[in-house]
Amino acid sequence: MQFDNFNSATFLRDHWQKKPLLIRNPWKKWHNPLSPDELAGLACEDAVESRLITQTSDDWNAEHGPLPETRFGELDKSPWTLLVQAVDQHVADVAALIEPFRFIPNWRIDDVMVSYASDAGGVGPHFDHYDVFLIQGLGQRRWQVGGMCNDQTPLRSHDDLLLLADFDVVDEWVLDPGDMLYIPPGIAHNGVAVGKDCMTYSIGFRSPSRKELIGNWCDNLLSEMTDDDRYRDADLAAQPNPGEISANAIDRLHTMVTEKLSNRDEFARWFGQFSSTPRYPETDWRPEEPIEIGHLREVLTAGNPLLRNPASRFSFIRESDDTLLLFVDGEYFSCRDEMIPLAERLCAQNQIAVDHDRKLSDAAVSLLTELYNRGSLSFDWG
Ligand code: SIN
Ligand code: CO
Repeated sequence: MQFDNFNSATFLRDHWQKKPLLIRNPWKKWHNPLSPDELAGLACEDAVESRLITQTSDDWNAEHGPLPETRFGELDKSPWTLLVQAVDQHVADVAALIEPFRFIPNWRIDDVMVSYASDAGGVGPHFDHYDVFLIQGLGQRRWQVGGMCNDQTPLRSHDDLLLLADFDVVDEWVLDPGDMLYIPPGIAHNGVAVGKDCMTYSIGFRSPSRKELIGNWCDNLLSEMTDDDRYRDADLAAQPNPGEISANAIDRLHTMVTEKLSNRDEFARWFGQFSSTPRYPETDWRPEEPIEIGHLREVLTAGNPLLRNPASRFSFIRESDDTLLLFVDGEYFSCRDEMIPLAERLCAQNQIAVDHDRKLSDAAVSLLTELYNRGSLSFDWG
């Protein structure tokens, strides 16, 4: 899927993280990549995260998947919405929807959620902490947008859904297949299906909260610390009032904390691993049979490209002029020399092909073999 009529530079300058934007069918040729039946099938699978939202006159109820197949036959005439998370990990044509958005860094991209709604179905007025592109896949949906919300914004008391207590509509549009609406974090929005068979694809992004960053960075530091690294004051001098915690002691204690927390190189390495950890780390994508280096080289040089697992996360950090750290699915690989352009290609493209004349070094094939045996690369994803 490619854009025909969308200027990413103007979008980043004027809209990204700033204000909503309606983009009428920007695609070369829009086609809906998944059928409603296929989506319902995914919601019945154990490994897939899904929710079914049913509506009564003014309330919303959420059920969590996996849903029994019979559940869809039991739905009555009241509006309902099925939401399935990370469909890009299961359907290649849905994963392809992310490609035109690669002007945004890999580490900011989360998943493609797909929704199906019956006539008048929707999840209710709410806001999200993340940027989202809402692409209308099939049918029509009326989107309304409101003002900026935050954690103080009053919500309806509801166990599962963060529904807004008040929603003042600022703008509204009816989206047709291929139309796209960008909503920045915090902006109130409400999508309601107009007619039947309404499917919406949400390209969702992520951005760590300060709370999450500090918590996880500190947990990581704590896991490596020992009890013998302690406050010491061999230079202690008698002080007039034993009750005073001296400025000198505070400086020393504060430094014990800040010098650990502020190590930028260690932080960078940790953040690369943290942010490349898969969304569902418990899912085992490893191949049934590990591949041998020689065999991988043969298959690759015979012209078969290695494909990135759509569930895998690839990023890199330039550590110095001659080293780059490649992060894949929570692991890091230190790359030098000819490994640097290989790591860059792995992060920039979703496949790696090698032409017959190009010789891959042993180190390069060994890295590709390791990534293959970890389930981050394959010759064939479904
Ligand atoms: C939907 O697709 O129905 C909801 C998406 C959203 O509002 O974030
Ligand atoms: Co939303």
